[in-house]
Amino acid sequence: MVIAIDGPSGVGKSTASRAVADQLDLVYLDTGATYRAATLAIVRAGADVRSETEVLSEVENHTIDYTEVGIVLDGESVASDIRSDQVTLAVSAVSAHPLVRAAIVEMQRRWVDDRGANAVVEGRDIGTVVFPDAPVKIYLTASPLVRATRRSGDAEAEGKSVAKIAAEIEARDHADSTRKASPLRPADDALIIDTSELTIDEVVDRIIARVNEILTDGGA
Ligand code: DC
Repeated sequence: MVIAIDGPSGVGKSTASRAVADQLDLVYLDTGATYRAATLAIVRAGADVRSETEVLSEVENHTIDYTEVGIVLDGESVASDIRSDQVTLAVSAVSAHPLVRAAIVEMQRRWVDDRGANAVVEGRDIGTVVFPDAPVKIYLTASPLVRATRRSGDAEAEGKSVAKIAAEIEARDHADSTRKASPLRPADDALIIDTSELTIDEVVDRIIARVNEILTDGGA
């Protein structure tokens, strides 16, 4: 089964998604990393992130894969390069182009299909667009302050104040949730979990409980 886990950044999505995949012995796909890898290719090429034509032609000229070592661009592991400030600041613009999204979504669906359609898939539009028929859909949220505080512990946030991180999170949320193509929003049938006051283990337990509920009675 596909378990779709969506939500904005800093809500504990990646940590919880990885743990759920581990516990259920499923593969895990971080779709944010696929948009970041595309953005890295564009930044490296010096292409204009605002031009859909330029971005699309770059995306079509590169191979993006997700393996045990994480995200791979043209055979090169780029797990840390995709976390650079330059990529983080450009990724919303890249992921707002509908044709670019269509190409990347196709790659994501193929990746999951190749693995027998059994996966934990993390992103922004997994339950709404990429896998609208996923039996388990989770949408994680948390208060802006909690999210900025959590992010301040990440390597990519080094040297930045919580206030600056909060402002950047807010700007990216705004861009991601107001874009025309697949905006960030919970699916109608998603279970919404506010992680502000929860530990990762508690979040994981709730997701697993939801999976068991769906497996036993279809979630009714
Ligand atoms: O999860 P993340 O911060 O690594 O995601 C980076 C960006 O990619 C995020 O700002 C929005 C975009 N994204 C998206 O548009 N759709 C997804 N399914 C995942 C990420």
